[in-house]
Parts: sequence; C-alpha cells; structure tokens
Amino acid sequence: MPEAQNYDLTDSKVMADPYAFYRAIHRDDAKVVNVTGVGGWVGRMSDVKRIAKQTELFSNSYFDEGGPIPTGVSGQPLEEDVKDIFNQGPEVVNALWTTDPPVHTTHRKLVNKAFTSKWVRSIEPRIEAIAHELIDKFASQSRVEFIHQYAVYLPMIVISEALGMAVGDAENFKRWSDDILRGNLDVLDHEQRKVVARSFVEANLRFETILNLRRKNPQSDLISSLAAAKIGDTCLANKEALPIINTTMLAGNETTTNLIGNAMKILLDNVDYVHQLREDKSLITPFLDEVMRFECPVQCLYRIVTEDTQIGNYPLEQGSRVMLGWGSAGRDPDYFDQPDEFILNRANAHRHIGFGWGPHVCVGLGLARAEARIAIAAILDRLEHMTLINDYKPKYVPTFATRGFQDLQFSFCER
Ligand code: HEM
Repeated sequence: MPEAQNYDLTDSKVMADPYAFYRAIHRDDAKVVNVTGVGGWVGRMSDVKRIAKQTELFSNSYFDEGGPIPTGVSGQPLEEDVKDIFNQGPEVVNALWTTDPPVHTTHRKLVNKAFTSKWVRSIEPRIEAIAHELIDKFASQSRVEFIHQYAVYLPMIVISEALGMAVGDAENFKRWSDDILRGNLDVLDHEQRKVVARSFVEANLRFETILNLRRKNPQSDLISSLAAAKIGDTCLANKEALPIINTTMLAGNETTTNLIGNAMKILLDNVDYVHQLREDKSLITPFLDEVMRFECPVQCLYRIVTEDTQIGNYPLEQGSRVMLGWGSAGRDPDYFDQPDEFILNRANAHRHIGFGWGPHVCVGLGLARAEARIAIAAILDRLEHMTLINDYKPKYVPTFATRGFQDLQFSFCER
C-alpha cells in the first residue's frame, strides 16, 4: 500500500474507494497528509476533534465581508457579467456556518431554539406520511431507482416544508440547492458560474419574500423562527437570516440523501440485516450509526488557517486550508476495532463524528436521524425481496468530499 502522501484524491479510483487512503493515514500514524490541490489533510480521530475545536486558529470564515457567495473553489476573480448577476440579489453577510465565535455562538443559540428535539418529534408523522407517499408512487412497479425516486425527495420535501416554502417551490428548491452546493464545492467555468449565480439570486429573492411575509404574519415554520429571532433587542437582519436559510437548505439535502442511500445499499448487500431490522425496529438507530461511521455522507470539510502554525512537524501557512476527515476518523483503529468491517450492533458506533465536532456540529442531526430512521422503517414495512438489478454496480458520486450513490436500482415485491 503506498504512503498516505502519495494518494491522488482527484483520481476517480481513489474517490470511488477512499478507504485505502484512510488505512494508510492510520498505518503511517500521519498527523497531516499533504494532498495536492487541497492542502493539509487531518484524518485521525483525536486530531480532527482537537482542530475542530480550535476555532481561533482553524477558522470557518471562508468568505470575506461580502458574505457567502458561491463562486466555485478555484479562487479565480469573478467575471463582470457574473458579478452583475450576484448584484441583483439581496445583500448577505457571513452568518452561522461561515462565522467563528463569538458571532457564531450568537447565531447558533438562535438556530438551536428552532431545531429542538420536540420540534423534530412534532414533524415525525409528516415525515412518515411523505415516505409512504413516495413509496406509493413506485410500489406497484417492482423496480425502483431508489436515489431519485426516494432518497433525494424525502429530505427535499421535509426541509422545504419545514422552512415553510410553498408546494410550488419544491422543484426549484432542489435545483437551487444542487447549483449552490456546486458553487461551494466544485471548480466552475464561466458558464457554470453564471448558472450558480442565477440560482443563488433566485433562491435568496424567494427566501426574502417569505421572510418578509413571516415577519408580518408568523407561521409554525423555521423561517418564522428566524424572522422572530432576536440578538438582544434587535431582530436577526435579513442579510444574516438569508445565508442561514441557505445553509439549512444545502446542509440538509444531499447529506441526508446520502445517508438513506448508503444505508439502503448495505441492506441490499446483507439480507440478514433486513430480517433483523424488520424483526426489531429498535435496531435501526444503531444500524444507522454504523452507516454514519462506515460510509459517512460528508467525508470531510475544510478550515482556513488564521496564522502560521504547525501540526506535529507539518508547517501550515496563514491562509492555507486544512481538511478535517470526518470519514477517516470513523475508520480510526484507535477508536474502532476492525474499522473496515460493518458490524450491525457495534457497541461504540455512536462515537463516529460524521455530524462534525465542536461548535459547528450539525444543527440538523436530530432531524437527519429521524428522517433516515423513518425512511428505512417505511421501506422495510412496504417492500421485500429487495435485490440489486443483475450485473449492475451502483456508482458513487465522483467527489472526495461527500459519499453517496449516483443511482441505486433494485427489484422488489410489495409486502
Ligand atoms: C446525514 C445527514 C447530515 C450530515 C452527515 C451532516 C453533516 C454535517 C457536518 C459534518 C457539519 C459540520 C460542519 C463544519 O464543521 O463545518 C454540519 C453542520 C450543519 N448542518 Fe448538517 N448534516 C446532515 C443533515 C443536516 C440537516 C437535515 C440539516 C438541517 C435541515 C443540517 C444543517 C446543518 C447546519 C445549519 C450546519 C452548520 C452548523 C454550524 O455552523 O453551527 N444538517 N452538518
């Protein structure tokens, strides 16, 4: 096995199976691995946790004071026509995810008030209804493309409704979310930047309209909670609330789709698990913890180094990036015995850090867990004899940042 330093994460084979790279990190006990085009990569559980908490040195301030504008990750200056498109949208500033304490602490307290476990419990019946409505659409067909007929739609409808969007916004919502996510994670050419800019402006204008309506006439949705949220005596301004809404839309869509899809693939590969979970539904939660550890939906996220420093002997320059490997931390043999085995009832699976760690730990983790649990329970209730289509090998989305399937086709019988 090559040294950890010698893996090329842009190689499609490494993206399809990053686990050899992670094994090399743990075998070499590498504190930081230099990854071309990315920067320093931190992959051991103890290092990832420590750095995620050192917010003054490893910052989430990815954007300058112009706020979180999704321009692609190449760092190229924006073309004039792309700037013109962005200028047509409402003003935004850095908020929540793209801030550090103390601003982050204030925003986070406000957002925590909306994402309570009581709120999650209150929408569980609706999540279950959405799951069954989606299954109704394909149940009689004996074959499904699970990602786009189920795993994409369930979280998309849940978040769109939770935010308080109108039914007619659902399709736009998905397009906005995909385009803006690409603008945050991918290298974009000029044409793609225009597409992303248009989606960003469209989404923010629509969110602004709803935010203004909810300020006058609150409903029981997340946008109303943000409209009512106050810092001292002052309401959260639109320019702060809009990026928080945006982050919620982005953070809650593809992530949860990946968790549901990755869980389904493991069930398709292990029919015994299907029987065990069906017999004892309380096993679904530990099963999903193990999926989060084993096939983590968000493999890594980066931080910006705020001053020259070093981790171990590895020097880090101010302004460079450090990647935090949530996925490789889940494969750390110092924490998990036989880390490359999927073990259904692993006693410490819940110690994974797939939802992040430290002040930015996922605010939607309760919702994500509920969605995945309900999504899988509904499938187990409604379908049986689930089998991957002959000779078909589902492919992962070609990126090292997230882990999920492009599509997942299987046949089944209705129960
Ligand atoms: C399986 C599904 C999910 C996974 C794997 C996931 C993963 C993560 C991770 C790793 C972070 C940490 C970011 C960082 O440290 O920079 C995070 C933050 C966040 N997540 Fe999630 N997430 C999921 C679902 C959701 C859902 C359903 C929502 C909301 C509807 C959500 C909203 C957020 C927000 C707003 C943040 C930023 C929190 C902050 O900066 O304080 N996530 N998530």
